[in-house]
Amino acid sequence: MEFSDVVHGRHSYRGFLPKAVDDATLKAVFELASWAPSNCNVQPWHVHVLSGDACNRMREKMKVVAATDPVGNADFPWQGKFSGHYRDRQICSALGLWEHQGVTREDKAKRAWSWMRNFEFFDAPHIAFIFVTDEFPETVRLAADVGMYTQTLMLAMANANIGSCPQTSVSCYPDLVREELGVDSKYKLLMGISFGYIDVEDGANNFRTERAPLESTTTFHQ
Ligand SMILES: Cc1cc2nc3c(=O)[nH]c(=O)nc-3n(C[C@H](O)[C@H](O)[C@H](O)COP(=O)(O)O)c2cc1C
Repeated sequence: MEFSDVVHGRHSYRGFLPKAVDDATLKAVFELASWAPSNCNVQPWHVHVLSGDACNRMREKMKVVAATDPVGNADFPWQGKFSGHYRDRQICSALGLWEHQGVTREDKAKRAWSWMRNFEFFDAPHIAFIFVTDEFPETVRLAADVGMYTQTLMLAMANANIGSCPQTSVSCYPDLVREELGVDSKYKLLMGISFGYIDVEDGANNFRTERAPLESTTTFHQ
C-alpha cells in the first residue's frame, strides 16, 4: 500500500470479527512498531498482547468491573474537561459515533451501551495493553514516546489489513489488568488497543471523523 493510503485507511474501528490474526503476522506488526522513535531511544513502552482465552478472560472481568465501578481508578486520572473548539470536536466525535451505532443523545441506556462496548473490546479477538514505566520523573515525555509507538503500531496493523481502536477507557481498571497479567505496579497503564479483522456489517465501522484545517493547527515560518 502507498503510505498515504495506510494513513488514511486507519480509523478507529469498533466492531470486529472473531477471526484471530495469525501468530507470524502478530509478531511482524509488533516488531515493526518497535522501530518508533523515543527520547534517547529509551523505548519506555511495555506491551502485553492478549489473544484467545487470555483476551476473553480479560473481557469478561472488565465487563463486570466496568458495570459495578463505572469510574475505576486510572493511573492517569482525567483532570478536567475540554472546552472551546476542543469540546466542539469531542461532541462532534461522540455524536457521529452514536449516529452510526443507532444511539441518540437523549437515550441514556443506549449511550451506556455504547460506552460498555469499550469493555467488550468491541468483540475483538485481541487487545494490547500499553504500559509506561514510572521509574523516572519524565512521564509526559515517556508518554509522548508511547504515543509514537502506538501510532506506528496501528499503521503497521492498517498496512496488514488489521483494524484497531486505541482505548483510554480500558485504562480505568489498571489494577485488574496488572493482577490478571502479573505486571509490576511500577508499570502504569496508558491505554489498550483492541484489534482484529473488522466486521463490515457493524455500522460503527462506517463512522469517519474529520480534521481541522491545516492552518488552524500548523504555522509555517520562513
Ligand atoms: C489515546 C487515545 C485514546 C482513545 N480512547 C478511546 C476510547 O476509550 N474509546 C473509543 O471508542 N475511542 C477512543 N479513541 C479513539 C478516538 O476517538 C479517535 O482516534 C478519534 O475520534 C479520531 O478518529 P479516528 O481514529 O477514526 O481517526 C482514542 C484515541 C486515542 C488516540
